[in-house]
Amino acid sequence: MALAIRFHDQHDDQPADSLREDVLAGFAATPKAISPKHFYDQRGSELFEQICLQPEYYPTRTEEQILRDAADDIAALAGPGACLLELGSGASRKVRLLLERLRPASYLGIDISRDFLRSSTQQLAADYPWLEVHAACADFSRPLQLPPELRSSRPLAFFPGSSIGNFTPVEARRFLLNLHGLLPLGGGLLIGVDLIKDQGVLEAAYNDAAGVTAAFNLNLLERIRSELDSDIEPDRFVHRAFYNEALNRIEMHLLSPRAQQVRIEGRRFQFAAGESLHTEISCKYSVESFCDLARSAGFTPRALWTDPQQLFSVHYLQTGPRGPMAVA
Ligand code: AVI
Repeated sequence: MALAIRFHDQHDDQPADSLREDVLAGFAATPKAISPKHFYDQRGSELFEQICLQPEYYPTRTEEQILRDAADDIAALAGPGACLLELGSGASRKVRLLLERLRPASYLGIDISRDFLRSSTQQLAADYPWLEVHAACADFSRPLQLPPELRSSRPLAFFPGSSIGNFTPVEARRFLLNLHGLLPLGGGLLIGVDLIKDQGVLEAAYNDAAGVTAAFNLNLLERIRSELDSDIEPDRFVHRAFYNEALNRIEMHLLSPRAQQVRIEGRRFQFAAGESLHTEISCKYSVESFCDLARSAGFTPRALWTDPQQLFSVHYLQTGPRGPMAVA
């Protein structure tokens, strides 16, 4: 049976309001674009969990093996009794690889998908009865606050999955600066970062043969159709993902093969034939370029683990003495 968790609602917007605002602005922009955070409704979160199981999507299994192998080293760096806070906790699956070794006093899962967060953290509390489990529904791309009862704890931030790659490098630096402001001096950040590699391997990971990534991308249009007043037809768009070598990033788009008009909340938007809605970037780093980014936000790289094929990296960073200011 699921045990009680402490739930903190920090997401002030109603999901439909922030979706409406972002969709109207993003469809009116040139080029058309929308934030990938809107992928993660209940269905989108479930599809993402399925992506992680696809044979082409190497990041999840590779990072999990790195975490398994490095768990003792990570525990030694972090020390027992920390408050482990996971950003974008989703199914709270990877953290399970660390809990027994790390023995944190408390866990705070932070995610934008309210119902998914609630059920995942309830399951975690049931499986680890010794752990004090908190959940905060919040948009981690905005400055975060620790719930009052956790403010005196010793936080260790955990940001797996290379979700940092879904920010541009400028946004990633701003995010790290804000996280630096949340952590005490010497506070730890354990972060997964996908590495630059062969273009074929990268493109296959975002174009799985089973079509799960395509369904995940197109689900954004399903959300627009069901949550907003819109006549958009998802099957008039196709999934497109490719590696942009100049910018070291995968780009995901929803392409309109034919010219079409869509109505959203009383406004009309034209798509030319071949025009796309840009839905996601997934930036890839070298170990050096990521360490430089971390340093520029006031973190000191303390440890690094990779897999034998150098597909993925996990970094343990610590806040340095120069505490930069939070950036809104
Ligand atoms: C969550 N994030 C790190 C994933 C990625 O690889 O950028 C999201 C994703 N998009 C398509 N597949 C997976």
